[in-house]
Amino acid sequence: MFGVVKMQMARFFAVGFFALCLLSVGGERVTYTSSGCDFPAIYNFGDSNSDTGANSAAFYPMASPCGETFFHRPAGRGCDGRLIIDFIAKHLGLPYLSPYLDSLESNFRHGANFASGGAAIRRSNESMSENGVSPFYLDIQIAQYTQFKSRTISLSSQAEIQSDRFPIVDDFAKALYTFDIGQNDLAAGFRKKFSSEQFEAQITDMINQQANAVRNLYEQGARTFWIHNTGPIGCLAVTLHNIHNPSPGLVDGQGCDKFQNDMAKQFNRQLEQKVIQLRKELPLSAITYVDVFATKYELIGNATKHGFLDKANICCGYHEHDDHVWCGNKGIISNGTQVYAGSCEDPSLYISWDGVHYTEAANRWIADQIVGGSFSDVPVPITDSCHRIRSE
Ligand SMILES: *[C@@H]1O[C@H](CO)[C@@H](O)[C@H](O)[C@H]1NC(C)=O
Ligand SMILES: *[C@@H]1O[C@H](CO)[C@@H](O)[C@H](O)[C@H]1NC(C)=O
Repeated sequence: MFGVVKMQMARFFAVGFFALCLLSVGGERVTYTSSGCDFPAIYNFGDSNSDTGANSAAFYPMASPCGETFFHRPAGRGCDGRLIIDFIAKHLGLPYLSPYLDSLESNFRHGANFASGGAAIRRSNESMSENGVSPFYLDIQIAQYTQFKSRTISLSSQAEIQSDRFPIVDDFAKALYTFDIGQNDLAAGFRKKFSSEQFEAQITDMINQQANAVRNLYEQGARTFWIHNTGPIGCLAVTLHNIHNPSPGLVDGQGCDKFQNDMAKQFNRQLEQKVIQLRKELPLSAITYVDVFATKYELIGNATKHGFLDKANICCGYHEHDDHVWCGNKGIISNGTQVYAGSCEDPSLYISWDGVHYTEAANRWIADQIVGGSFSDVPVPITDSCHRIRSE
C-alpha cells in the first residue's frame, strides 16, 4: 500500500526544491517529500548527555580539564569538548545552544537548552549533593520553556529590546524539539534496588510523564520532535570497573551489566511504543524516535574497529579497585597516595571521558550515525524530520 504525502504546504512551495523519497516503515511503503526543514531553532530537554551549561550556571562551574579539546576552557559540558546536541546543531547549520539559565554570553536567536546534568524525567526526593540529582527535572524544564516563550512573546512587542540575540516568535512553531532523558530515572531505580517487576511499572510512569511533556509542548505549538532513547547504562566505564569476576548471567555479550542494560531496553521499548501512539494522538506532529542505544552499543562493542581504545578506558579520572577519584579532582587512594585525576594524553582515542560521560570524539561518532536517519523510526534524516509521515 502506498502512503500519502502530508506536509506543511507553505514550506513545500517556499523551498521550491524537493525530492520524492520512498521508505519502508513497519513493512509498509510510505512516501514523503524531502525539501529540507530549515529549522530556525532547537529547544532541547535532557540530562548531562546534553547539558551545555545549565548546571555550571546554576550551581558550580564545570572545572578543568573539561572543555580542553574543543573550547580550550571549561564550557559547562561534562566532556572534553562537544556533546551530541552540539553536533546536531552544527549539522543543522545552527550555533551551539545557550543554556536557558546562563546569564552571560547567551544567544537565544536559534533556540535554548533546558537540559541539566542529573535531571530525571520524574521528580525525585534524592539530593544533588548525595546522588547528583538535579532539581531541574523534566516538568521544571518544560515550565522554564513555557516561561521563556511567554516572556519572549510579551517582550517582542517592545521594539527597543529586540536584538539579534532575542528569539523570533514565529520560530517556536518551526523549531526542532529534542529530548535526551531517562538515564537518571533508571540510575535512581538501581540505587533503590528495584526488581525487574518494580521497574516495569516505574518505567511505564516515566514514559507517561515524558509523553506528557511532548503533549504540553505540542499544545503550545511545537510540531517536530526528535527523541533519543536511553543508552546502554550498564556499559558505562565506571560500571565496568565495578564488575569483577561476574557470574555468567550478570553480564551481557559485551561484559556490561546485563540487568541495567535490560532495564534500558525495556525503557526504550516502551518509549518507542509511546511515540507511535503520540503520532496518532497528535495529528500535526512529526515525531522521530532515535535509537541512540544501538549506536552507543555498536561503538562500545566494536571500539577498535571504529578507532577507539577498549570501552573500559577512562580518559579523565582514577578508578581502580575501590578507589574513585573523579575527573579534575584530587583524592587520597587506599595506599595513602594522593592522586590528581587529570586527563589522558589523547582524548580522541577514548570513548569514555570521565567514566560516565562520553568524549567529544565518541559524541561526534554517535551524532554522525544518527543525523542521517538510519537509527531512527522513521528513518528520515534530521534535516527532513519536520515532515509528517503517515502510511495510509
Ligand atoms: C560489531 O561488528 C560486528 C561485525 O561487523 C557485528 O556483527 C556486531 O553486531 C557489531 N556490534 C557489536 C555490538 O558487537
Ligand atoms: C599507590 O598506588 C599508586 C597507583 O597505583 C602508585 O602509583 C603508588 O606508587 C602507590 N604508592 C605506594 C606507597 O605504594
